[in-house]
Amino acid sequence: MTETGATAAPTTGEPAPSRLTARELTLAYEDRTVVDGLDLDVPQGAVTVVVGPNACGKSTLLRALGRLLRPRRGAVFLDGADLARIPTKQIARSLGLLPQTPVAPEAITVADLVARGRQPHQHWWQQWSAEDERAVTEAMERTDVAQLAARAVDELSGGQRQRVWIAMALAQETDLLLLDEPTTYLDIAHQVEVLDLVRQLNHERGRTVVAVLHDLNQAARYADHLVAMRAGRVVAEGPPGEVVTAELVREVFGLEAVVIPDPVTGSPLVVPGRPWAGAEVSGV
Ligand SMILES: Nc1ncnc2c1ncn2[C@@H]1O[C@H](COP(=O)(O)OP(=O)(O)OP(=O)(O)O)[C@@H](O)[C@H]1O
Ligand SMILES: [Mg+2]
Repeated sequence: MTETGATAAPTTGEPAPSRLTARELTLAYEDRTVVDGLDLDVPQGAVTVVVGPNACGKSTLLRALGRLLRPRRGAVFLDGADLARIPTKQIARSLGLLPQTPVAPEAITVADLVARGRQPHQHWWQQWSAEDERAVTEAMERTDVAQLAARAVDELSGGQRQRVWIAMALAQETDLLLLDEPTTYLDIAHQVEVLDLVRQLNHERGRTVVAVLHDLNQAARYADHLVAMRAGRVVAEGPPGEVVTAELVREVFGLEAVVIPDPVTGSPLVVPGRPWAGAEVSGV
């Protein structure tokens, strides 16, 4: 049998050290605790994918990792320092976050929105540099939005807009990239393109990526490290080939499925059980 997930792991063997960690992280909205005492080590230079059912706390966790949400208890550490104590601009130079539902300023153009990704790199004595220009152009080309540069963001299709947000996150050129459902609204070809791009950034530039994905099969294809969450806790984590099993799919999603090797990559492929087909064929 081919080894599952073998194509996806540049960091096989020893666990990579972690620059971004969470310790006893408890996250809450008013009196509702969403994440409870979670520990996580984001492997350095690898692609980590977080999966789990709706409302299990994935976005909440990602927002805390990006310091958009202050922990109720515990802490997130970046290079050993409590995120709560690091100046915002310093964090923004190390860590980029694409939220699940970002909101663009009204009537902003694509080029201007992507350029905002450069803000953490700008200084009072120099608002815009050739380096900024290069980063923005490159980010727009890599996400296939260069031809939309002059368009208003709020006039774009959902998929075009999503690629513009990804361009903005890329233009920030951070070592750590947190992406909450980056493939939302994208057609299948653009989904693959964006995930390939994430993998490319990881391989060529050693970027560390944490992405939330809903598609388990894409998660298993692209992750070096898979984190399965349920009800605010990590249920399982590790290489997809070890983590994605029929038992896990049942435990995390309450879904009966068969797990077979992906014919292209060998990574686990989750095939849900028999679909409902009407009374005449049920029970067959
Ligand atoms: N701003 C908020 N105020 C109050 N409750 C919130 C807020 N944001 C999220 N929640 C609640 O926290 C829980 C976790 O939400 P979260 O967005 O982290 O889930 P998720 O795993 O990302 O789900 P999905 O797959 O639907 O994106 C949910 O019960 C949600 O209703
Ligand atoms: Mg979410």
